[in-house]
Amino acid sequence: MNEPNIFDTFSYKGLELRNRIMMSPMCQYSVEKKDGIATDWHYIHYVSRAIGGAGLVMVEMTDVEPDGRISDYDLGLWSVEQVPALKRIVDGIHQHGAKAAIQIAHAGRKAEDAEIPVAPSAIPFDEASKTPRELTTEEVYGMIEKFRKSVQLAVQAGFDVIEIHGAHGYLIHQFHSPLTNKRTDEFGQDLTKFGSDILKAAKEEIPKDMPLMMRISAKEYVDGGYDIEGAIELAKAYKEAGAEIFDISSGGEGQIAAWGKPGTHAAYQVPLAREIKKALNVPVIAVGRLDEPALANAVVGTGDADMVAVGRGMLRNPYWALEAAKQLRKDTNTIVPVQYETGF
Ligand SMILES: Cc1cc2nc3c(=O)[nH]c(=O)nc-3n(C[C@H](O)[C@H](O)[C@H](O)COP(=O)(O)O)c2cc1C
Repeated sequence: MNEPNIFDTFSYKGLELRNRIMMSPMCQYSVEKKDGIATDWHYIHYVSRAIGGAGLVMVEMTDVEPDGRISDYDLGLWSVEQVPALKRIVDGIHQHGAKAAIQIAHAGRKAEDAEIPVAPSAIPFDEASKTPRELTTEEVYGMIEKFRKSVQLAVQAGFDVIEIHGAHGYLIHQFHSPLTNKRTDEFGQDLTKFGSDILKAAKEEIPKDMPLMMRISAKEYVDGGYDIEGAIELAKAYKEAGAEIFDISSGGEGQIAAWGKPGTHAAYQVPLAREIKKALNVPVIAVGRLDEPALANAVVGTGDADMVAVGRGMLRNPYWALEAAKQLRKDTNTIVPVQYETGF
C-alpha cells in the first residue's frame, strides 16, 4: 500500500473529507454588534478557504455564553438567532467541496471583556488580568448544559464536525490543569470531570455517525504544569467520555503556543501528536508551523498524524491547499475550481 499523503481522502464514521488538510480555528474578533453573530467577513473568510482547497474548514473558537468570549467581538452560539449566519457559512463551505467544523468553547478566566470572568478557582491568568470568580458546583453543571445547547445549535446550523476546545488555557483546560483547579468538590477531585461531562453531553446531541473532535494542549511549558505523560492520561479520560479525533496543540497556561515560547521551529507540535496517536490509537491532527507543503505531507506520510491543520499559513494564503497540490505535483483536478483551472 502507498504511504498516505495530505491529498488522500479521509473518512471516519459519516465524515468524508476530500483531503487531509484542515484550516485551523482562528479567532477573527470581527463580530460587529457584540451579539456573537457571524458577519460577511466570516462568510468570505471561511468560504475562501473552501474555494482554496482545504478538506475541512474549522470555524474559530465560538463561545457558549456572552461572558465566555475572549472579547465581545468573538463569535457566540447560545441562541437560535446566531444559527442562520453560521448556516450560511456552512452552506458556502459545502458548495465548494469542503466540510465544515466549528470549535465550541468558553474562555473562562481569559474572558477579557467580562466584568468578572468565571473559572474553576479564583486565580488570575497574570498580574494584568482580572481575578475570576470561582464557579459554584451548581454553576459548573449549568455550564455543561450551556455547552450542550451550543452543540445542539451547531448541529442545527449543519456543521459536519464539532470540536470541543480543551486547549490553550481556556475553561476546560483550566479545569483539567492542577495549576488552575484548586477545587475541593467533584470537579476538583477529578480534574477531567468537567471536560468529560461536556463530551458526554455533546455526544448525546450529535448524530450517531458524526465524529466528536477535541483540541487539547499536550504540554503546558510551565513549572508545575503537565507534560506529554499527563496529556496522555487526560486524553484517555476524554476518549472514554466520547472524544474520537484529537487535535493536538500545546501551551496556554503560561502563554498561547502560537505566540509564546514553544512555537519557534517548524512542526514543533508533531512529536506530541505522534505520542497521543501511539498511546491511544486514535486519529490525530497535527498543527503548528506546518506551512511548508512537503513538511505537512511528510507528517501524514510517516504516520505521525492522520491530518494536518494550517493556521497562519492560510491567513497568508487562502489557496494554501491548491498551491500545495501544485507544488507536490498532486492531481489538482478534483479541487481546483473550474474558474481557476488556467492558473494551475
Ligand atoms: C489569529 C489567530 C487566532 C487563533 N485562534 C484560535 C482559536 O480560535 N482556537 C484555537 O484552538 N486556536 C487558535 N489559534 C491557534 C491556531 O489554530 C494554530 O493552532 C496555531 O496558530 C499554530 O498553527 P500555525 O503555525 O499553522 O499557525 C489562533 C492562532 C492565530 C494566529
